[in-house]
Amino acid sequence: MNQQEIDQLRQLMEYEASRTEPPQAFPTLPDIPGGRYTDPRFFDLEKQHIWRKAWLLAAHIDEVPEPGCFQLWENAGQPVIIVHGDGGAINAFYNTCSHRGAPVVTEASGKRPRLTCKYHGWSYSHEGDLLAIRDPEDFRGLDFSCRGLTKIRCERFGNLIFVNFDDEAPTLLDWLGPIADEWQEFQFDKCRLAGRHIFDLNCNWKIAMEANTEVYHVKSIHSKTVAVTLDDRRNVNTLYPNGHGRMIAPTKEGADELRVAASIDSNIRLIETVGEIGRTCTQSYGIFPNWVSPLSHRALPPLLFWPNGINKCRLETWTLVHDWGDGPKPQLQDMWTNADGTELGAVLLEDTEFGEWIQKSMESYGFKGVPLSYQEARIYHWNQSADRMIGIDNIPPELRVPQVIGEEWIYPNDPRIAEMEADKSRSAG
Ligand code: FES
Ligand SMILES: [Fe+2]
Repeated sequence: MNQQEIDQLRQLMEYEASRTEPPQAFPTLPDIPGGRYTDPRFFDLEKQHIWRKAWLLAAHIDEVPEPGCFQLWENAGQPVIIVHGDGGAINAFYNTCSHRGAPVVTEASGKRPRLTCKYHGWSYSHEGDLLAIRDPEDFRGLDFSCRGLTKIRCERFGNLIFVNFDDEAPTLLDWLGPIADEWQEFQFDKCRLAGRHIFDLNCNWKIAMEANTEVYHVKSIHSKTVAVTLDDRRNVNTLYPNGHGRMIAPTKEGADELRVAASIDSNIRLIETVGEIGRTCTQSYGIFPNWVSPLSHRALPPLLFWPNGINKCRLETWTLVHDWGDGPKPQLQDMWTNADGTELGAVLLEDTEFGEWIQKSMESYGFKGVPLSYQEARIYHWNQSADRMIGIDNIPPELRVPQVIGEEWIYPNDPRIAEMEADKSRSAG
């Protein structure tokens, strides 16, 4: 982030703190239909379109560090093997043998010279090619070249490995758009995996995720934790293409560090290239569809939300820290969890425990829809983008979200800047 952007953000923070109503140019947001959380038709549409077409964070290079290393990944509801190929590329395949559909690996992870199906012994290379079969004399005209494992799109952003089930999807870099540039300062190519844990929650996945997509709830739900340090009235939301979003809120005067950040071990290396905003504010990104992460010079800790049925989900917590060098992994505390990753930390517990209550009340006959405020614009933007990915015509009309936030609000556009300048010249005049 250059100095001009930093200065503009600082001005926008003051603008947000001083405004007495939403920005003039900001549209009135229609209610989000309640059925988007509870109607199985919408849940199925998410499954068919969102989970099938979006780039999803699946693994870290530390989990498949050498050729032949593999990891099973089923968080998106499909059986996937991620394999470190012989030439160094990371490959992803359906874990589905080309013979009779048995899984090719049944271990969570490991390292093998080739991938051999346990059922009848067909074996595949790390590139997914069929190498050998048992009793080939019993097959007539079996073409090895079209009997390899079925490939899935797999691309890296630094040390992070993403998959996408859609052959037509844009590249990962195009998907991230301007965020990929903005993230250069965090050096994702040098991040190491310090912790990765998963927790079952009793609520729809969007209920859990949305608790991390606005700061409106901070004063009530996190009154003794986040609210002590986060200056929510100076929060600046930014909407990016493809449904991504960012919030930047300064740390309150007198509270030097966020408590969550303080839980990171003090002997890890800081990311020296992280600028002023990442060091002094909560700078948090939502990457469509299911990643939320506050990024700072201390840690890059994505939270991921995965559906597990319509009223259950899984929360995955990652802690990424800057490369600790050649030595052994230092004793690292996890950003999000306690007790060796068996318990959620205080802030996430506050969100997740309340999520179960929200689930119950959203299932009541009394729940019709959600009126969102300007502060919660990132949630609306997510929903608009979800509808475009699903295809608006595929959605029953009563479950659609009207497309009211226009391109003029999508980065690098920002109507607040003109309003801010107009305010300034009014008060100067
Ligand atoms: S199903 Fe894999 S070898 Fe038969
Ligand atoms: Fe929260």
